Amino acid sequence: MQKTVSKDFKYLKGEINIPSDKSISHRAVMFSSLAKGKSVIRNFSDGADPKSTLEVCQGLGISTEFKNNELIITSSGKFTPQKEVYPYHCGNSGTTMRLMTGILAGQNFDSVLTGDESLSSRPMKRIIEPLSLMGAKIESDNFKAPLKIYGRELNPIYYVSKIASAQVKSCIILAGLGVDGITSFTEPYVSRNHTELMLKAMGAEVNVKNTTVSIHKSELSPINIEICGDISSAAYFIVAALIIPNSDIILRNVGLNPTRTGILDVVKQMGADIEILDEKEICGEKVGDIRVKYSNLKGCIISGEIIPRLIDEIPIIAVLATQAYGTTTIKDAQDLRNKESDRITAVVTELKKLGADIEETPDGMIIRGKNGLIGDVEVETYHDHRLAMSLFVAGLVCKKEIYINGFEWVNISFPTFEKLFNTLKL
Ligand code: S3P
Repeated sequence: MQKTVSKDFKYLKGEINIPSDKSISHRAVMFSSLAKGKSVIRNFSDGADPKSTLEVCQGLGISTEFKNNELIITSSGKFTPQKEVYPYHCGNSGTTMRLMTGILAGQNFDSVLTGDESLSSRPMKRIIEPLSLMGAKIESDNFKAPLKIYGRELNPIYYVSKIASAQVKSCIILAGLGVDGITSFTEPYVSRNHTELMLKAMGAEVNVKNTTVSIHKSELSPINIEICGDISSAAYFIVAALIIPNSDIILRNVGLNPTRTGILDVVKQMGADIEILDEKEICGEKVGDIRVKYSNLKGCIISGEIIPRLIDEIPIIAVLATQAYGTTTIKDAQDLRNKESDRITAVVTELKKLGADIEETPDGMIIRGKNGLIGDVEVETYHDHRLAMSLFVAGLVCKKEIYINGFEWVNISFPTFEKLFNTLKL
């Protein structure tokens, strides 16, 4: 589907509720499926990715029911695989595939996980290697999906990862959940910690020290959880308000887990007029409202420990940087090439088409602002929801219309994206 975007309004004003966090939604379903009893999940994401996780768990025999905005998961604590939905399809979702592989590797049955074209091209060596060290047997197509997982008893490991990745960390922790002894995972920088927080809340013995997480064999208790809004979805509105003159908006119910708030640190450093209102804690996760106003911004350097804390926001930060004075340099983000698309090449190629002064580097990009984006051109989304939403925001500051091909990919994480934008246009 092609979407035409232009600035058909004066500025953004008003308040919106940010929809449910995708990462937490995945975990709520998976971990409830492992807990004996009835779990209640409120505000589950309506994105296609968490739906993939839900369908995989349904295929594994878990009973699920939606009732008045609540998702109820009832589990015996064990999977009872349903032959008719086999192999299990993870759609476009790396989180589904990587975390479920960790869970399935130690089961007493075999399974196969498949994915769409994009997911089937993404690297799985990062999970197959450590799982194999735990004694797992996984067949793949040269470390790519489909993954054939031969369930078996696993042994604990102490694994030191070269990359900071919450998907890899969670995969190993989940495999360790069913293993006698202590399984430990160390990463170079702290990546998002929703797995650690939720498992702990469900009674697992999880310990965290600096960048190392350890888990003992644990039984999980059912959970009653209210999922907060996704800061990765809020990011598009934050940037739009910062770059469209006279904008002033409030984003309600945004998850503010410090392992996810790198974008707030960056925009503050760039000079943003942004404040957190009414911060509280809900189900172990920090939540608050964000007020953001149009601001004069300056470029900055983004590198090192902050990268995993804003990894999904880099495409929209690149859009922001085109509207900031001076140069913004993004480094140490080579893993962006392994996302739903190669987000370094994709962002640089498409923003260049709009008239941005942007240059690709092996591990990031250099953006020279502040230059007016022109538009009057077709851009591509590479089957990538974050490209689609970032280009939409870029389109709002282009002089002329832009035409986004494959805009329907927004549905992967944020089906109400455009509708919410429309409510803020004045
Ligand atoms: C996610 C972790 C991140 C992120 C992805 C969701 C998660 O991936 O990019 O969108 O829910 O654990 P990596 O951990 O591979 O960086």
